Amino acid sequence: MTEGVVYVDSLAVVAPTAKLGPGTKVWAFSRVADGAVIGMHCQFGQNVYVDRGVRIGDRVKVQNNVSIYSGVEIGDGVFLGPSCVFTNVEFPRAFVERKTEFAPTRVGRGVTIGANATIVCGVRLGEFCFVGAGGVVTKDVVPFALVVGNPARRIGWTCACGERLPELGPVRARCRRCELGYDLSDSCRVEDPERFERWWLERVKGA
Ligand SMILES: CC(C)(COP(=O)(O)OP(=O)(O)OC[C@H]1O[C@@H](n2cnc3c(N)ncnc32)[C@H](O)[C@@H]1OP(=O)(O)O)[C@@H](O)C(=O)NCCC(=O)NCCS
Ligand SMILES: [Zn+2]
Repeated sequence: MTEGVVYVDSLAVVAPTAKLGPGTKVWAFSRVADGAVIGMHCQFGQNVYVDRGVRIGDRVKVQNNVSIYSGVEIGDGVFLGPSCVFTNVEFPRAFVERKTEFAPTRVGRGVTIGANATIVCGVRLGEFCFVGAGGVVTKDVVPFALVVGNPARRIGWTCACGERLPELGPVRARCRRCELGYDLSDSCRVEDPERFERWWLERVKGA
């Protein structure tokens, strides 16, 4: 398959008004509905549903059996683990129409959502946070937080590269894998934002 060419499996359905960026692939039994806007170099596994008008960034990987409903916004470089679940109505009833009451869910750039995790609607997943397998997210998650469990709670911090951050005392951390440094004095931030943005652009935009 040529780099930059959109690939839609013969058993996938992409609505005519959906937009797929170059290099994006949609595998069998998946469906992208009208008006969805998807960036470049994304991958949609088997049995993935992208609802009407959903916006998805570049280089996003969606594993099998994931539905991304209207009201969910996905940033660049997000990883959605197999069978993770989004919701869009807080108090659903089969017999009461609540289509105008969707609570938005925002998934920041670089976020990972583990297998089988559930994201209750109306939350914001801060950039590069990591939701462990099976976690149930009921509140906003701060950037770089590693959260697990039901309800999901923070057990540490993760590097943008996905490695858990070893804390070097109360205010600093450095990743063993990629050596990015972090300031933990107030939540978790990269020490050198310029170097970090270059690092990120290389990975996600191919800059
Ligand atoms: C969270 C995760 C990244 C592990 O992080 P870690 O730093 O290696 O954590 P550890 O294995 O040392 O566990 C730390 C604690 O958290 C618990 N824990 C780890 N993962 C957990 C999870 N998903 N849910 C609940 N608790 C979890 C451990 O039981 C342990 O608890 P304890 O301190 O009471 O013994 C990993 O378990 C995970 O969920 N990865 C996502 C995998 C995935 O979904 N991949 C999808 C692509 S196939
Ligand atoms: Zn790292």
